[in-house]
Amino acid sequence: MSTHSFAYPDFHAASSTEGRYMESENWTSVAHWPRAWLDIVFKTYPRMPLLRLPDVPWESQLSLSEALVQRSSDRANVAEPLALETLSVLLRESTRIKPTAVDHGSRRVYPSAGARFPVEVYVAVSRCEGVAGGLYHYRPLDHALEQLAAGPQRDRLRRVFGHDWIADARCVVLLSAELSRSAVKYGDRAYRFSLIEAGHLMHNLLLVGTDLGSAVTPIGGFADDRMHRYLGLGPTEEYVLYSAVVS
Ligand SMILES: Cc1cc2nc3c(=O)[nH]c(=O)nc-3n(C[C@H](O)[C@H](O)[C@H](O)COP(=O)(O)O)c2cc1C
Repeated sequence: MSTHSFAYPDFHAASSTEGRYMESENWTSVAHWPRAWLDIVFKTYPRMPLLRLPDVPWESQLSLSEALVQRSSDRANVAEPLALETLSVLLRESTRIKPTAVDHGSRRVYPSAGARFPVEVYVAVSRCEGVAGGLYHYRPLDHALEQLAAGPQRDRLRRVFGHDWIADARCVVLLSAELSRSAVKYGDRAYRFSLIEAGHLMHNLLLVGTDLGSAVTPIGGFADDRMHRYLGLGPTEEYVLYSAVVS
């Protein structure tokens, strides 16, 4: 089958490195890495209201093999609000920074190319106990939500996703990537790496959500420009890549 009418061969070629970054003399020795390869950026909105989430323990109900088999894109519309504990554990356990001395705790429960961690997490909350309806940015360092917008999100979500069942969901998680964090090291390959990383984080959400008894459905289809405006990202190098409906 001919693929000449599609642009993906160009996407692939444009994000190929042909080993360029490996030719750097800094490449093999961490001691010689430039500062830009070592810094880990945590996005924050310091002027917005902060809601600390409860630090409830995660008492896992399923084995890994059970969670893998039970995970499914249920697209169920659940009327009752999401328990605050469920949202709290879902976000914390899917993104957690590992309490390890290795690399000064710079590793998380999902992998990241070069530990650059370009992926950011946002949540549109419609019905969750103890969390006012609104759009939030999640800060994994503090296990806290920063409120970016208050009030019902239904109409905005409907315009962004084009589906009532998504607009009516209790919560929608949005994964973006600030490409420059990865591009300082990997150039245009940062684009591929960010997509892959978002997939790793997504699978944590899917499996943890399944364990918590909540169907989480991955959603790749949305209007990019509307999504970009919805998060108020402006002329940045941060793009929304993936999202998840929490039923
Ligand atoms: C990258 C990706 C994008 C997806 N985008 C959507 C989407 O936009 N809308 C939707 O309803 N489901 C979406 N899905 C969910 C798939 O339709 C679903 O995973 C598939 O039908 C298999 O069903 P299962 O997840 O229950 O195993 C997406 C899944 C993936 C992996």
